[in-house]
Amino acid sequence: MSSRVLTGITTTGTLHLGNYVGAIRPAIAASRTAGVESFFFMADFHALIKCDEPDRIARSSRAIAATWLAAGLDAERVTFYRQSDIPEIPELTWLLTCVTAKGQMNRAHAYKAAVDAAVAAGEEPDANVSLGLFSYPVLMAADILMFNAHKVPVGKDQIQHIEMARDVGQRFNHLFGQGKDLFTLPEAVTDAEMELLPGLDGRKMSKSYDNVIPLFEGGAKALQEAVARIVTDSKLPGEPKDPEGQALVTIFDAFATPDERAAFRAALRGGLGWGEAKQQLVAQIEGQIGPMRARYAELMAHPEQLEAILQAGAAKARAIAIPFLKTLREAVGLRPYTQTATTAIAKAEKAALPVFKQYREADGKFYFKLLSAGGELLLQSQAFEQGRDAGQWVARLKKDGAVALTADAPVQREASEADIAAALAAFQEEA
Ligand code: TRP
Repeated sequence: MSSRVLTGITTTGTLHLGNYVGAIRPAIAASRTAGVESFFFMADFHALIKCDEPDRIARSSRAIAATWLAAGLDAERVTFYRQSDIPEIPELTWLLTCVTAKGQMNRAHAYKAAVDAAVAAGEEPDANVSLGLFSYPVLMAADILMFNAHKVPVGKDQIQHIEMARDVGQRFNHLFGQGKDLFTLPEAVTDAEMELLPGLDGRKMSKSYDNVIPLFEGGAKALQEAVARIVTDSKLPGEPKDPEGQALVTIFDAFATPDERAAFRAALRGGLGWGEAKQQLVAQIEGQIGPMRARYAELMAHPEQLEAILQAGAAKARAIAIPFLKTLREAVGLRPYTQTATTAIAKAEKAALPVFKQYREADGKFYFKLLSAGGELLLQSQAFEQGRDAGQWVARLKKDGAVALTADAPVQREASEADIAAALAAFQEEA
């Protein structure tokens, strides 16, 4: 069976060399592997959370789309689309929102960071938090679950979001799947290489550190200028240099074969000057990026070509999303009035099984009872101070059946031992 890989890029800026080496290049390489079905998209709904500059959103989306294609993405082979061209995604977001615990969203890193920043600045905790930011992980879960992705390559900062997508998907399956999984539960894939490319100052290359080397933007000139700013030690030409741990060398590695890497290191040990080394680095990067930049410029000059590719991509994505959403709508009960069959069958099946009911009485205490498939009372629990204790007994009875019904079990038998044992056995068959 093929494995589905999906990833999105938020469209709030242009991409740098770190995005290329860490995300785009490996994603494209993986998309060429047999047995891999790839889904790549511009996360422009996500961009609205962070950015209220319409022109910037539009420009960034276009630039990122052109970048993917210029870097060698084969739009015929993969499914390549704009998130905002798939109206089924916000619709699924709502279905998921309704089964997402607010408490879990309270724990999302992005939200907590915004709260911490506000508090540190002496503001109200939620001062800078839109509902979009707060429920950002639900939209992301919809992106992933819509296409039943198995693997989601992301940076480390996104792992929590994938876990949230798993939780939400699992909950939805449990509530509405009627025993089968509606959603595939995704796994985050974090490649060591993904975090690897250092920026000009040696820290991870990131816009927020202002240490990036642009990928296509600004042409070869901008590349040269950025490389000139890479921090090195102050050894002079002719002095032997230690290549290890130098940002410049690590960046070189990302664009070089093993032989070229060895030769570059040897040259530095032999006294190659940093200025010279930077020229070599520019040439090395340019060898890979230069031809792509020409394609990038061409695509940017022909938005109608890009638009056509993305329209085709949206059609491909929606060919999956539309029928799947129909199934999901039916599963939650949004159905034509004329269609009752699926629930009727499921209900009949459900009614044929005994059930545990947990409830709380006016006395504030917690209880449970076991009812037969026909609805007669089989077991009645005593009062529990804690709902959790009642729940644990239910779980134990379901798991172990009549064996758990010891003499001191906190339940009263309301039917014959045989009827009770038979009802309890049904849970074990189910499991
Ligand atoms: N939140 C991701 C980021 O900022 C982008 C994104 C949106 C994404 N939806 C996604 C990534 C789905 C992977 C899968 O990096």
